[in-house]
Amino acid sequence: MSRFPRLALIISVLVLGSAAHGDSASAEPAIALGRAALPEEIAAWDIDVRPDGVGLPSGKGSVKQGEELFLQQCAACHGEFGEGAGRWPAVAGGRGSLTDDNPGKAIGAYWPYVSTIFDYVRRSMPFGNAQSLTSDEVYAVTAFLLFINDVVGDDFVLSPETFTSVRLPNANGFYEDDREITERALWNREPCMINCKSEVMILNRARVLDVTPEDAKGAGSVD
Ligand code: HEC
Repeated sequence: MSRFPRLALIISVLVLGSAAHGDSASAEPAIALGRAALPEEIAAWDIDVRPDGVGLPSGKGSVKQGEELFLQQCAACHGEFGEGAGRWPAVAGGRGSLTDDNPGKAIGAYWPYVSTIFDYVRRSMPFGNAQSLTSDEVYAVTAFLLFINDVVGDDFVLSPETFTSVRLPNANGFYEDDREITERALWNREPCMINCKSEVMILNRARVLDVTPEDAKGAGSVD
């Protein structure tokens, strides 16, 4: 059957279906597409883990187990010590370099929480074969990533019990955006939310004010 007659058939079934339900007083929708998601399906999607450990699956894994797994499934891209192979990203190193001209942003240098590592790896690694690791394997490889970032010792075992005991070096570099409270006094008046001024007047341009960096001068219409 070509696609079109089949489509016509589907449409006529839908139309007939809606006509059949049209006059009924039931709350059933006229075109009932899909079905309610099963609890198992929702559970499969709902895998986020929070910094306080909420959402963690049961399981555990040691640095040692993680090392083995990392060498088999991760090192080809990320290097044996997380230094990054070729142009693949580093997952260790760069600690203390955040204020340098060329800051390292690997786990120990930049990431805020263990949950960021756990959730990221569980969701998306190994690249090309995402979500193929068991929970124990995610615990183990996360423990190994913490080890190569000098955050835990080589005998560390990551589990829901030890999860919140680990603090990443740059945890304090992240904080909630509290500008609405802390900077409110600097605003000159209440922000307009309704019936605001419709006309916008451009009073000056960045190029005239000389805020555009030197190199970009004359490089087009960057104003
Ligand atoms: C085929 C190459 C490849 C393999 C194998 C691989 N990764 Fe990755 N990994 C990547 C790429 C590419 C990115 C960056 C993805 C992006 O930015 O969207 C990445 C990003 C990451 C990051 C985040 C790095 C950062 O700072 O942004 C972590 C952590 C990570 N991988 C861990 C792992 C672990 C653990 C494994 C093994 C279970 C693994 N990767 C296997 C290619 C790979």
